[in-house]
Amino acid sequence: MTSPSCITRIHARQILDSRGRPTVEVDIELADGSTGRACAPSGASTGRHEAWELRDGDQARFEGRSVFQAIDNVRTEIARALSGADAMAQKRIDHRLIDLDGTDGLRRLGANAVVATSLAVCRSAASHARIPLYRHIAALAGTACPTMPMPMVNILSGGAHAGRSMDLQDFLAVPVGAQSYSEALDMVGRVRSAAATVMAEAGQSVLLADEGGLSPGFDRAETALDLMMAAISRAELRPGSDIAIALDVAASELFADGLYELKGEKRRLDGGDLVALLADIVGRYPVISVEDPLDQDDWDHWRQATLAMPGVQVLGDDLFVTNPKRIASGIERGVANAVLIKVNQNGTLTGTLEAMAAARAAGYATVVSARSGETEDPFIADLAVGTGAGQIKIGSVRNSDRLAKYNQLLRIEEDPGIAFAGTSGIAGQTVRAAA
Ligand code: PGA
Ligand code: ZN
Repeated sequence: MTSPSCITRIHARQILDSRGRPTVEVDIELADGSTGRACAPSGASTGRHEAWELRDGDQARFEGRSVFQAIDNVRTEIARALSGADAMAQKRIDHRLIDLDGTDGLRRLGANAVVATSLAVCRSAASHARIPLYRHIAALAGTACPTMPMPMVNILSGGAHAGRSMDLQDFLAVPVGAQSYSEALDMVGRVRSAAATVMAEAGQSVLLADEGGLSPGFDRAETALDLMMAAISRAELRPGSDIAIALDVAASELFADGLYELKGEKRRLDGGDLVALLADIVGRYPVISVEDPLDQDDWDHWRQATLAMPGVQVLGDDLFVTNPKRIASGIERGVANAVLIKVNQNGTLTGTLEAMAAARAAGYATVVSARSGETEDPFIADLAVGTGAGQIKIGSVRNSDRLAKYNQLLRIEEDPGIAFAGTSGIAGQTVRAAA
């Protein structure tokens, strides 16, 4: 007899993401009629060591970005391999997907095909079990206490998300003074609006970047930070105690021939000079988190940066690519103290949960993150809560691809059993408090 949680149907289709680029959507159906759907996100400042995003490369279709081969892989090979498998056995299913692919980094089937399948299976299982997705994820991850994450919210954008109009990629607001998730959302929303007001008054364009942030195109990071400070004050909030600042340098994007090119400042710095510049900024502004301060393979300067910014969360994105091996390597070298978590960098839910477990076992903080190319799929909201990640990074509080996640968190917040993480999940806070 087939078990009611057995997979009976797998379907995939090509849909468009928030940049209007093709991506993979997968539907799963179980014997009892339960269903699950999930979509693959897509990065622009992609790390070299990420799992492979399979695109057709046929310039005649969708500018070479179509994903029909990935879709076909789900409909044929993956559907055959998972037909009849128990959706409640997420780990077994994810291992079967990895074995079926047979390459390092899912280069054959495509991480976009695999991740959408893996997440859709998880959703169908939650639906079968008749529990909210975050509860099912908590069971898979062994999370004793799911929590509402602290959001870090994009206010100003540069780098690959804004036509490289600023060297640094993200200037984010972290509502450290908030007592609840909904209060956090209110506070950052006010800062985002105030930033637009301040820019409009200065005659600057308030057009949106890829993640819904503003892009003033300043030459210097300090000018953007001054605008952040002005926006926080304009919102009648206190910089530092109500709203702290986070940066994503996305330094791999600046790195060429052994040096970091700051186009706006017309300077090329070596790793040591970039660390000094960032440490100086962190000392002068209420910056509590710095992501990707160095290139993805510049381990020595990464270590230097970690030591140079005590009390600051030093967050690895392109460095770790949600890969347990690279995270272990960072832990061993004393590099960074927090890991950015992106499901499609890894390729499966099980692998993502392993990456998070490895980080936390070493005392590293975790930040569940969206990609700059997103869809209406809010999976990562449930992932952040279900794993008790402590922090989430989705982009700005604009555009439905971002709001799908922020709003899903508002729904989850209605569960009285889920407490707000506040600042407890941010690395470096105890050092800071003691200083
Ligand atoms: P990406 O950017 O999705 O374009 O990689 C997000 C980030 O760098 O954090
Ligand atoms: Zn990043």
